[in-house]
Amino acid sequence: MTPNFCHHVRSAWFLVVVCLVVVSLPGAVTFDPLDPEGQIMIRWDIMRWTGDGYAATVNIINTQQYRGIRSYRLGWKWAKKELIWVMTGAQATEQGDCSRHPTDPPPHSCSLTPTIIDLLPGQPYNMQTANCCRDGVIAPASLDPKNSVSRFQITVGNTGNTNTTINIPQKLSLGSPGAGYSCSPLKKVLPTKFPSPDGKRNTQAFVTWNATCQYVPNLAHPAPVCCVSLSAFYSPKIVPCADCACNCPPKSTTPGPHAIAGTDQTCIAPNDPQALQNALVVKKGTKPPSLFCTKDMCPIKIHWHLKENYKHYWRAKITITNRNLQMNYTNWNLVIQHPNFVNFTRAFSFTEKPLTPYGDIANDTAMFWGVKYYNDMLMQAGPQGNVQSEVLFAKDSTFTLSNGWGFPSHVYFNGDDCVLPDPSDYPHLPNGSSKLRGGLALLACTLMSITVCLTSLF
Ligand SMILES: *[C@@H]1O[C@H](CO)[C@@H](O)[C@H](O)[C@H]1NC(C)=O
Ligand SMILES: *[C@@H]1O[C@H](CO)[C@@H](O)[C@H](O)[C@H]1NC(C)=O
Ligand SMILES: *[C@@H]1O[C@H](CO)[C@@H](O)[C@H](O)[C@H]1NC(C)=O
Ligand SMILES: *[C@@H]1O[C@H](CO)[C@@H](O)[C@H](O)[C@H]1NC(C)=O
Ligand SMILES: *[C@@H]1O[C@H](CO)[C@@H](O)[C@H](O)[C@H]1NC(C)=O
Ligand SMILES: *[C@@H]1O[C@H](CO)[C@@H](O)[C@H](O)[C@H]1NC(C)=O
Repeated sequence: MTPNFCHHVRSAWFLVVVCLVVVSLPGAVTFDPLDPEGQIMIRWDIMRWTGDGYAATVNIINTQQYRGIRSYRLGWKWAKKELIWVMTGAQATEQGDCSRHPTDPPPHSCSLTPTIIDLLPGQPYNMQTANCCRDGVIAPASLDPKNSVSRFQITVGNTGNTNTTINIPQKLSLGSPGAGYSCSPLKKVLPTKFPSPDGKRNTQAFVTWNATCQYVPNLAHPAPVCCVSLSAFYSPKIVPCADCACNCPPKSTTPGPHAIAGTDQTCIAPNDPQALQNALVVKKGTKPPSLFCTKDMCPIKIHWHLKENYKHYWRAKITITNRNLQMNYTNWNLVIQHPNFVNFTRAFSFTEKPLTPYGDIANDTAMFWGVKYYNDMLMQAGPQGNVQSEVLFAKDSTFTLSNGWGFPSHVYFNGDDCVLPDPSDYPHLPNGSSKLRGGLALLACTLMSITVCLTSLF
C-alpha cells in the first residue's frame, strides 16, 4: 500500500470493503481492534560486563488484556559465535556443539540459534530468578498483572565486553503451543532505570535492547477452536454451532474412536459411554481420543441463552463447555462484544471487567473469567467440563427484544475468535436489528482502516 492509497479512501463504503478484504487476508492483520495496545515486549538489560561478554536480564512482558501465553518458547540467532555460559530462570532446549569450549563446567548452550523455555515450578534457589519458573505461563496483564512478566538471566560469552563490541541478537521469535507471534528486531533503546526500594535513587542497565511481538491469529491456529450456539426464551429453536465451524466431522458412524481429518487425533461419539470410559483411561502406546465427534468439531462451545426480559433488566446465561478430553483450561477467559455492555449490570459467578479499547467511544466489550477456587478451571470434557454464569443488563424504555440486542456480536475464548452462527439462523431475529451492530462494526472498521493507512504511511 502506498501513501497515495489513503487519498482514495473517501467513502465509508470503501472503508468497509477495505476492512473486509484486509480481515479476510490470512495473517495480514496483526492489529487487534479490541486490544489495540496489547503486545508482548522483550527487553534485554545488560547489567554487567564479564571477561568475555556480558550478563543480561531478559524480560518477556505481556501487556495484552485478555491473551496469555501457555508455554513460551523464545528463540533468536546470535549475530556472531556467541555462547551462553550460564542461565538461571529458564533453559536452552539444546546444548549444541560445545566441542570448541571444553571447559568444566561446560557452557549451558553453544547453539547458534538457541530456543529458551521456562523451568518448572519448585526449582532449587540457585536456578531461580524473580518471575521465573512457571513452565512458561505468562498471564494476560489485566487478569493477573503479577504473572504477566517472565524473566531469566543469561551470561553470554565469546563476544565483546564493551558497549561498542557487542552484537544485538537477530531473528527474535516467540511461540507457544497454539499461539503465534511476529516479533520486530531488537533495537538499542535508552537504558532501563531501576529505582531503589525507597525510590530515592535509580541504577541503570549498561545497555538495553527491546523488541515487540504481535499476536498473529492465523499463525496461532490454522482453524478456529471455539464456536457459539444461541437460544432465546421467546423461541423453542436452539441455534447450534455452525456445521464444520472448526473442522468437519468424520463420516463413519460406527462406535469407537474416529480419525479427525487433517490431524493425528481421534474423536468419539458424545453418546458412547464405553468409548468415553476408555478415553479417560490412557492405554500405553495409544493416543487417547481428543474430542467428542460433533457437527462443528470445536473443542470449546459457548452457549448464549437469552433468558429473561424484565421491566428494567434483561438477563442472559452463558455456558462454556469443554469438549476436549485431554485438556483442563486453567485461568480461562472469555471476551464478549455486545452493544449493550454500555448498560451492563453484573455477572453472577464469573468475574467481569469492561475492556474499553476506544476509551469513551465504545464500551461494548467485556472480559469474563472464573472465580478463584470455584470455576477458574474449566475441567476436561465430561460431567464437570463446563462453567456457567448469568449476566444481567439494565435497559431503558427504548429497549425491545425486536432490536435484536439479545446476542453477542463477537466472542473470544482465551483470545481466540469463536465462530458465530449465521445471523439468518438466529432465533426469530426480529427485523431492523442490524442497525446498531452495523454501526459498531463500521466504527471498528473505520478505526482499523485508518490505522492500516497510517501504518502504511510510516
Ligand atoms: C558506551 O558507554 C560509554 C560509557 O558508559 C558512553 O560514554 C558511550 O556513549 C557509550 N557508547 C555507545 C555507543 O553507546
Ligand atoms: C522499549 O523502548 C521504547 C523506547 O525507549 C520504550 O518506549 C518502551 O517502553 C520499551 N519497552 C520496554 C518493555 O521497556
Ligand atoms: C484435569 O484435572 C483433574 C483434576 O485436577 C485431573 O484429575 C485430570 O487428570 C486433569 N486432566 C488433564 C487432561 O490434565
Ligand atoms: C443505557 O442506559 C441509559 C439510562 O439508564 C440510557 O439513557 C441509554 O440509552 C442506555 N444505553 C443503551 C445503549 O442501552
Ligand atoms: C465508557 O466508560 C468510561 C469509563 O467508565 C466512561 O467515562 C464513558 O463515558 C463511557 N462511554 C460511553 C459511550 O458509555
Ligand atoms: C422482516 O422484513 C421482511 C421484509 O422487510 C418481511 O418479509 C418479514 O416478514 C419480516 N419478518 C418479521 C419477523 O417481521
